[in-house]
Amino acid sequence: MSQEYTAPVPDIEAAEVAEPAAVTIVVPTYNESANIRELLHQITESVPARLPCEVVFVDDSTDDTPEVIREAAKDCPFPVTVLHRDEPVGGLGGAVVEGMKAAGSDWIVVMDGDCQHPPSLVPELVATGQRANAGLVVASRYIKGGSRAGLAGSYRVAVSRGATWLTKSLFPRRLHGISDPMSGFFAIRRSDIAADALKPLGYKILLELAVRSRPRAVTEVPFVFQERFAGESKSTAEEGRRFLRHLAGLRTATPLARMVVFGLIGLTGFVPNLVALWALTHAGLHYLPAEIVANQFGVAWNFLLIEKVLFRDRRRHRHWADRTVRFALLANADLVLRIPLIALLVTHFGLSALPATALALVITFVLRFVGTEALVYLP
Ligand code: GDD
Ligand code: MN
Repeated sequence: MSQEYTAPVPDIEAAEVAEPAAVTIVVPTYNESANIRELLHQITESVPARLPCEVVFVDDSTDDTPEVIREAAKDCPFPVTVLHRDEPVGGLGGAVVEGMKAAGSDWIVVMDGDCQHPPSLVPELVATGQRANAGLVVASRYIKGGSRAGLAGSYRVAVSRGATWLTKSLFPRRLHGISDPMSGFFAIRRSDIAADALKPLGYKILLELAVRSRPRAVTEVPFVFQERFAGESKSTAEEGRRFLRHLAGLRTATPLARMVVFGLIGLTGFVPNLVALWALTHAGLHYLPAEIVANQFGVAWNFLLIEKVLFRDRRRHRHWADRTVRFALLANADLVLRIPLIALLVTHFGLSALPATALALVITFVLRFVGTEALVYLP
């Protein structure tokens, strides 16, 4: 007698939840020697034996932090490594990505080295991720039970609020479900990190991961941002500017987004164009040559904004004089092309003047954008 055998259907989700987790804690450090012992002590107290753990410091210090770490590591029940970078790239975010690449566990927790992020939360971050089958678990100051107690001064609170609001408005979809995209404390599954897609730039590595790596599902756990244990914040005004550049880079990652920004910059160019036209015609110049000269003011304005904002990172491929000439030629070709194109649309396609002009504007705009990307600012 034969018995029919039905192979058990593997319950992938249940298997993943049941699997014992291990965690690599990645800590970026820049001159934090006075905080290391306390941090490792707090981690030792917090992480239970059933959660295998290793700590990877990625250090850009100019002081003796690496030696202090190696010394303190001798008293730790888990492996501790220090990756010291002689040529730091990407600042804090770049350091975190290096650490993630070196991590050996399925879960990675990123936290600061100054004890502002309570290590007691590490097991909960991982457990929550396992339970919810999430790719990313953010420790948030902005949900019930969380607070930013350790954020010193009303100025910093206001800046932090403004930055959070701006960032959430720029990435409503990618940051859906993340109340605290500025947090530097989170757990992420190694399998959810698209390391090659990342271009970390400064402090906001969580934002970088949420936008470019797009982890499968996100949950949050509240936390109280503590006071710094020792020393001072390493953030500077330059870091603020770097953050704005980071936002601009993330927001213009797709050609469509770049075209929109290109168009918006183009619209602002009308202002210098019209002001120059007004001044030149008032100075007695005939309106036709005045149009041509005034247009150059608009072109120059657009060029400066595009160099500073949109293609800031793509300037290295050509000399600035080369870029200027190419940009100006394209911008004026646009003008020269438009009239014959309108004539063509009217005579050959039977359009009337207004739709023909509108269509010609769109066509020359797209051509100019594509041309600018391909001929002036190579990726
Ligand atoms: N490797 C490396 N390289 N580490 C750095 C660098 C760097 O260039 N800059 C800072 N760090 C380290 C610091 O040594 C510290 O361990 C951690 O990164 C955070 O730096 P802080 O200077 O203490 O940052 P913060 O307290 O002002 O800001 C923190 O809280 C913010 C929320 O208010 C960070 O977690 C921010 O990411 C977070 O947005
Ligand atoms: Mn800090």
